[in-house]
Amino acid sequence: MSIFLDCFDPAAIERLSHLGVVSGVTTNPNLISRETEPFNLRERIEKICAAVSGPVAVETTASEAAAIVAQGREFYSWNPSQIVIKVPVSMAGYEAIAQFERKHSIPTIATCIMTFAQGYAAALAGAHYLAVFWGRMREAVSSPEEAVILLRERIESEKLRCSILAASIRGPHHAVEALSAGAHIVTVSPQVLESLLKHPGTDETVARFAEDWRCARERGLMS
Ligand code: E4P
Repeated sequence: MSIFLDCFDPAAIERLSHLGVVSGVTTNPNLISRETEPFNLRERIEKICAAVSGPVAVETTASEAAAIVAQGREFYSWNPSQIVIKVPVSMAGYEAIAQFERKHSIPTIATCIMTFAQGYAAALAGAHYLAVFWGRMREAVSSPEEAVILLRERIESEKLRCSILAASIRGPHHAVEALSAGAHIVTVSPQVLESLLKHPGTDETVARFAEDWRCARERGLMS
């Protein structure tokens, strides 16, 4: 199991990657659109690559297969040892995934997956990762658990090379549900990562232990 950060902010990625629990980053056009100052996409992605050791996903936005492949090849050229190309699972997207993987040996994340069938098709097209949109599936009142369980069964029984990446995670409970259902990876925002790693009970216990330690020293019990 692994945790990726769903984030476009190199400073947050750098801060959290020091914890030793983050092994990749996903970005998408929505995260990019939240920026408030002008930026250069290539420089930003290069900074993100420097902040994490592991895959960094950059999403294509073109709608025809040839244009998706051209856009993805350009992104990939920025850092072939880390960049993975995210491709939404449209009809052109499946075709582009097959071309990236088979013709250009470029690893892909099939993204915006809302059903088992879309994930399975993307796996057959050769995607390295299947981004199942946990939160959006919940909002659409469909079952991400069922999709992930079925995908995991297919991956194991057919020895498919891909990993399930649970995305669109709205809170720590979604991350835990997705990993329990069989996702190999969850990608989470910095806020969700922090709430996964912290607990008020832990803080309270640590404060009490610190106080116990101080008292023991004051009473001269320890040398
Ligand atoms: C990550 O790979 C996805 O693009 C992201 O988790 C989608 O999240 P959203 O549903 O909040 O847009």
